[in-house]
Amino acid sequence: FRLSKDGAFHFPVFHRKHPCLDDPSPVHAASVSDAGTVVGNDEIHKGKYFMAISLGTPSVFNLVTIDTGSTLSWVNCERCEIRCHGKADEAGPRFDPHSSATYRQIGCSDEDCVDIHQDNGIPYGCIDETDTCLYSVRYGSQYSAGKLGRDRLALGDNLTVVDDFVFGCSEDDRFYGKEAGVIGFGNKSYSFFNQMARQTSYVAFAYCFPSDHQAEGFLIVGPYPQRLELVTPLIRGYGRRWYVYSLLLLDMKVDGKRLEVDPTVDTRQIMVVDSGTDDTFVSSVVFYALAEAVTSAMGDKGYYREYGSEKVCFKPAGGEPVNWRGLPAVEMQFLRAALKLPPENVFHQQSADRICLAFQPDTSGVRDVRILGNRALRSFRVVYDLQKMTFGFQARAC
Ligand SMILES: *[C@@H]1O[C@H](CO)[C@@H](O)[C@H](O)[C@H]1NC(C)=O
Ligand SMILES: *[C@@H]1O[C@H](CO)[C@@H](O)[C@H](O)[C@H]1NC(C)=O
Repeated sequence: FRLSKDGAFHFPVFHRKHPCLDDPSPVHAASVSDAGTVVGNDEIHKGKYFMAISLGTPSVFNLVTIDTGSTLSWVNCERCEIRCHGKADEAGPRFDPHSSATYRQIGCSDEDCVDIHQDNGIPYGCIDETDTCLYSVRYGSQYSAGKLGRDRLALGDNLTVVDDFVFGCSEDDRFYGKEAGVIGFGNKSYSFFNQMARQTSYVAFAYCFPSDHQAEGFLIVGPYPQRLELVTPLIRGYGRRWYVYSLLLLDMKVDGKRLEVDPTVDTRQIMVVDSGTDDTFVSSVVFYALAEAVTSAMGDKGYYREYGSEKVCFKPAGGEPVNWRGLPAVEMQFLRAALKLPPENVFHQQSADRICLAFQPDTSGVRDVRILGNRALRSFRVVYDLQKMTFGFQARAC
């Protein structure tokens, strides 16, 4: 798709059918469609969701993680000078900037170079002789570093295009995934989302991450069809990370009952919505109350808690397989909207007779950062409406 004369920017979903139609057909599979094989592959999947991108001319196909918790996008590049992570074959070949007719490196005085240096605390990242802007980004103990460049980016069907897409050509990384790289949806001028949004008529994105390998997800950037989603205010940033998107959690319920927390403790907390994180991280006081309430509800249903592992896990007392229909329901009460989680979004299966809570205390992730992870939101359509500053969710959307 391209810009039409009136400045409106439509994705194929709106092309195939009328924009106002209530048509859930996927635009670009988030994690999936082009590569059914990938979805069923837990080795490469590992709690993340991918989209298919093609970079350069001729174009190189890569699967990259959709990450609302970061800004700069990058892919593994050829001439990986120092070290690069081991990619799965399905993730596509390494991009070679020297083989792309449309690749241009970003110079040291380029505005994006200056911004990226500033935002990532890089004091000096330049090769003056060749006017090459260097970058590095960190994700906890992981990182990627290399050169900044621009090239033609095409999505999925080769119809959606950003001609001068800014991204990092990674030549040194420590990264635990098997995907080719990361696509950043955070709010910075050089993030994937903002580069796309510049060309759309409405500042929003929406996606649905499928909860099982058979289902298909989708991703929309720009105007989205309004549905019956519940809506909570979207909060700009989180602490010093002002490029992320956050929500206000008020409290939680298990099987309709509020958690038993010391009434003098304030359970309200701001959480980052992070599509690149699997589990949900809540404040310790809420977590321990949640674990307690879930353990008690599970006990009533014939499960015993397994102590010893870091996570909260359960086994059916009789050794029979897990019955997903009988598991407790958990509700997250956000400001003005309750997110009712089906058991598949509360637990994950570790083996035939062992399930674990997909929640953790904020002391065990990135310290003191509360995160609404992607497991809680799987199969929900979620909408980040940055124009209205709302976050919407609708169950069973993919
Ligand atoms: C995508 O479109 C570009 C520009 O029109 C073309 O050069 C390229 O061959 C196309 N790639 C595929 C895989 O169709
Ligand atoms: C995105 O960043 C711009 C510039 O810093 C800011 O004006 C805008 O309010 C931000 N939007 C969101 C949704 O965070």
